[in-house]
Amino acid sequence: MKILIIGSGGREHALAMAYAKSHRVKKVLVAPGNDFMEESSKKIQTFPAIGVFDFEKISSLAKKEAIDIVDVAQDDPLAAGLVDKLASHGIPSFGPHKKAAEIEWNKAWSREFMKRHNLPIPQYETFSNETAAISFINKNDEKLYFIKASGLAAGKGVIRAETKEEARMAIKAMKRFGNSGKTFIIEEGMIGEEFSLFAICDGDSYQIIASAQDHKTAHTGDIGPNTGGMGCISPSGALSKQSLHIIKKTILDPFLKGMIEEERPYVGILYLGGMITKKKMFSTHTNIGIVEFNSRWGDPEAEVILPGIVNDYASLIEAVAMDDLENCTVEHDGKIRISIAGCAKGYPDDSSQAKGKRIFGLRDVAKMEGITLFGAGIKKKGDEYVVNGGRIFHLVAEGKTISQARERAMAAMAHIFVEGNNLQYRTDIGWRELERHT
Ligand code: GLY
Repeated sequence: MKILIIGSGGREHALAMAYAKSHRVKKVLVAPGNDFMEESSKKIQTFPAIGVFDFEKISSLAKKEAIDIVDVAQDDPLAAGLVDKLASHGIPSFGPHKKAAEIEWNKAWSREFMKRHNLPIPQYETFSNETAAISFINKNDEKLYFIKASGLAAGKGVIRAETKEEARMAIKAMKRFGNSGKTFIIEEGMIGEEFSLFAICDGDSYQIIASAQDHKTAHTGDIGPNTGGMGCISPSGALSKQSLHIIKKTILDPFLKGMIEEERPYVGILYLGGMITKKKMFSTHTNIGIVEFNSRWGDPEAEVILPGIVNDYASLIEAVAMDDLENCTVEHDGKIRISIAGCAKGYPDDSSQAKGKRIFGLRDVAKMEGITLFGAGIKKKGDEYVVNGGRIFHLVAEGKTISQARERAMAAMAHIFVEGNNLQYRTDIGWRELERHT
């Protein structure tokens, strides 16, 4: 088989390695990919000149290389309708159609859908007018709100506001997201512990793959601005068997059924961003609420989940195309994994001073026991690697226990440097899980 992956980050690198592990897969092409991917396997080839919106070039490459599956891994080409485009050329792909992916790229529509189908969500209002939104805040009680841009914003479109003044500032900040922030949502903050859960879906059935817990704020201690994700652990100990049962009955089953009823059958990876809430949700009377749905793998969640899947990943994706998902079970190696995002100093605000700086230690660290490195904002210059983005790489450590995985991760991170002291990372990834186990 030959696979073409669309995207360029750590998630796509983890996917490329998952496919490359399959003895049935001869070649994994990634467009555009990043320069670190080809270090991992001779099967992987990147196409830096083909961007995620170059739909014609992607279609031509898929035809020329006789690709068996194009895996559209990134949110924005999904939102722009790449899966629909490939289908119009008769090219097989994996990922939701544009209308199904709307569950992520239009958060206002997404919340309305959830309300129509009685899914557990907080109270919210949608606005396209700053004055009306500010007046809503002024006349309501002061409480925790989340102000969310309706469109895609690279994981940074959600602002937490604890006071009326913070809420008014967050509303004004929606402009910074351009078209994505023209419509925005104000919703009551749910209090509790967040988790990410992933399911593979074929339209009318699904299999849960695994859970993880991301750490979204920039700095150690869960402080600072929101980022695309600074690190992750999998599985998340926040979810019991009972919670998984509740999630199936109150979220995943009605989600798939609702999407069929609204003629948007969902095929692809479904990412449930959820919360174990302190208060019961009013629609389901359970303690699990939906923060958001995404129409793809999470990043960095993919990096901690995909390496632990025992199934042949290509066969799992093929089962979706063959409508045979019901007969599959997803198996795991039972290890705990932790990832730490190695970022350019200043990320997520301004990390431009780090661009082009040399990175030291990657190749040695990649050889360490229990460590895997995935590239993201990274570029090859001669025989060296240099910084080319905010999140430079994701270091993943595996272990039998969370303590072992964390010790390995921290020891390995200590061997990586960026010229001019330009490396920044969190030192507390997995702290909740550690607390649960000590
Ligand atoms: N883990 C955050 C995201 O992928 O959106």
